[in-house]
Amino acid sequence: MTHLIAPSLLSADFTRLGEDIEMVNRSEADWFHVDVMDGVFVPNISFGMPVIKAIGKIAKKPLDVHLMIVQPERYFDTFRDLGTYCLSIHAEAVTHLHRAVHQIRELGMKAGVVLNPHTPVSVLEEIITEIDLVLLMSVNPGFGGQKFIEGTYGKIGKLKKLISSSGSSALIEVDGGVDLNNAGKLIAAGADVLVAGNTVFSSADPAGTISKLKNTVPV
Ligand code: DX5
Ligand code: ZN
Repeated sequence: MTHLIAPSLLSADFTRLGEDIEMVNRSEADWFHVDVMDGVFVPNISFGMPVIKAIGKIAKKPLDVHLMIVQPERYFDTFRDLGTYCLSIHAEAVTHLHRAVHQIRELGMKAGVVLNPHTPVSVLEEIITEIDLVLLMSVNPGFGGQKFIEGTYGKIGKLKKLISSSGSSALIEVDGGVDLNNAGKLIAAGADVLVAGNTVFSSADPAGTISKLKNTVPV
């Protein structure tokens, strides 16, 4: 499989969000990455249901929703109703991860599990065959435009080994500080999906940058 690109709307211009969504619709991007923050699990608040509902109305590509909230189980139904394709929850935010991922799947969504930079891949050993995606944070979650954590390459390698040795078909997604310099190395390490916020939306040519990310070759 060629890698997928998921522009993060957190870095979009909210005064012209509709235009930025249309740009992504027309671009070579694969998914919309939607970051939901509650000011408790992470020290920032992004946007909530009315905005996501508006995004869903015009987005023509699957919604890849990244929940950075405490007790995410409270909102699984709502995110399904908002048209979420893949719903990712932090391993650090739920006590009963097994129950939670099954609830997500039973609602008809793909289930993703997110790991903060300090959380080892080994926490997924007993659940890796039951999830659709692992989202590795390559920054501490909460803000766009942060510096990429270099240890991520090694973590992708460990995750890739766990996935192949278990027979899991989970995708590996990397989120935070992804740019045109590290994309090729991330793909070579085994990343299937690259999230990119600042790199895309602060670029003079966002659609061109998406195209460059999409056409990046492993190095
Ligand atoms: C950070 C979010 C990211 C963020 C990435 O907490 O999960 O999705 O938007 O932004 P960049 O690509 O600018 O690091
Ligand atoms: Zn994210």
